[in-house]
Amino acid sequence: MRLTILGGGGFRVPLVYGALLRDTGRPRVEEVVLYDVSAERLAAIGHVLAALAAGHDDPPRVRATTDLDEALRDAAFVFSAVRVGGLAGRTADERVALDLGLLGQETVGPGGVAFGLRTIPVALRVAERIAALAPRAWVINFTNPAGMITEAMRAVLGDRVIGICDSPAGLVRRAETALGLEPGRAAPDYVGLNHLGWLRGLAYQGRDLLPDLLADDAALARVEEARLFGTEWVRSLGALPNEYLYYYYFTREAVAAIGGAARTRGEALLEQQERFYQEVLGAPGDALTEWRRVRRERDASYMAETRDTAGAGEREEADLAAGGYEGIALALMTTLGRGGRETMILNVAGGSAVPGLPADAVVEVPCLVDAGGVRPLATRPLPLDFLGLVQQVKEVERLTIEAAVTGSPAAAVRAFAAHPLVDSVTVARDLLAGYQSRIPDLATAIRPA
Ligand code: G6P
Ligand code: MN
Repeated sequence: MRLTILGGGGFRVPLVYGALLRDTGRPRVEEVVLYDVSAERLAAIGHVLAALAAGHDDPPRVRATTDLDEALRDAAFVFSAVRVGGLAGRTADERVALDLGLLGQETVGPGGVAFGLRTIPVALRVAERIAALAPRAWVINFTNPAGMITEAMRAVLGDRVIGICDSPAGLVRRAETALGLEPGRAAPDYVGLNHLGWLRGLAYQGRDLLPDLLADDAALARVEEARLFGTEWVRSLGALPNEYLYYYYFTREAVAAIGGAARTRGEALLEQQERFYQEVLGAPGDALTEWRRVRRERDASYMAETRDTAGAGEREEADLAAGGYEGIALALMTTLGRGGRETMILNVAGGSAVPGLPADAVVEVPCLVDAGGVRPLATRPLPLDFLGLVQQVKEVERLTIEAAVTGSPAAAVRAFAAHPLVDSVTVARDLLAGYQSRIPDLATAIRPA
């Protein structure tokens, strides 16, 4: 089997390759093709992968290319993990919103809309090349904003594209561990959109253990999300929210914390990552050591401002492993490729699984995976405050896709204005103008007909 990784020069690619090296099942991935727009980044990550492979007999071959068509031809699986506009684009997403007094964040709020606007045209072009060159490939999309991008790519690829995220699995694992269960033993009732969902139940041997967890002070204290949101709030919700809901439930605190920091997450990562790639290219012999060091640093500082503000403390050791990102990708890929049955929380068209949403809307819910594909499992109706938020943000995603596809400024302003974290239509217009002045591509892509 051939796996093509789009964004193959990305910092998390060694995690995926490491998982492939540990995989002993058959059939296996024999060749990994890395595609990236940057030959330098490909070279740097190539050094890390070579060091990882050393000592393994028969590691998957690695080929790198900056030619998209060459990368896609005959791929059985495509991982898409690209960052259109790079981390510089992320800093613009954050800063324009913060300068208007709004949340400046990678995927949530106006930053996510701006990220989506510039990513969707690229994702659609990629989807069209996949449809032409590898029509039978499974496409696993990590590209953020993952729910929105998966929904956009479905227009070309249908059910062959599946979106994934590590945060729901991380939440479920933390809840299981706090209850003394081995990870993967309980059946989660998790529902929502990507970066906007709740764990509402955790069935184990026919019983829902979530109420026990919510009632237990000591066990709850071990769950990062409970520390972030506070025991009282998770108890009144009767659910454990995804960590990204902090931006909705504690918007003022999040804006103050992120805006008050000297640098945004994007700004800090831009500096860290530029230095990392330079250093690896300068001293390839130290590539793996350097990668491991930077990875620890990156994972340990993840959501640091909001955790500090909430008094949530340090991250757990088990979460300093990028939340199992690579494990999810590998489990999905091997189940699709080899068969068997797995239940995984994925981003797929909800069908009738989530009452209150259009059947073709991409949702993040537990799904049954086998060699035939992915089927969402039915969920209980959502309380209206959960459902209303999900519906509103789903419409923001759809308006963003419409704006990116048609180039309509009116649709773009509607997308910003519909976002629950944008408090005025005037501000929505200022956001579009601000993003267009910082991101030249957006100025040409979105303009009056
Ligand atoms: C989690 C989320 C990803 C997100 C990442 C940001 O893994 O699931 O969707 O991109 O965090 O991490 P970073 O280190 O880039 O801030
Ligand atoms: Mn994610």
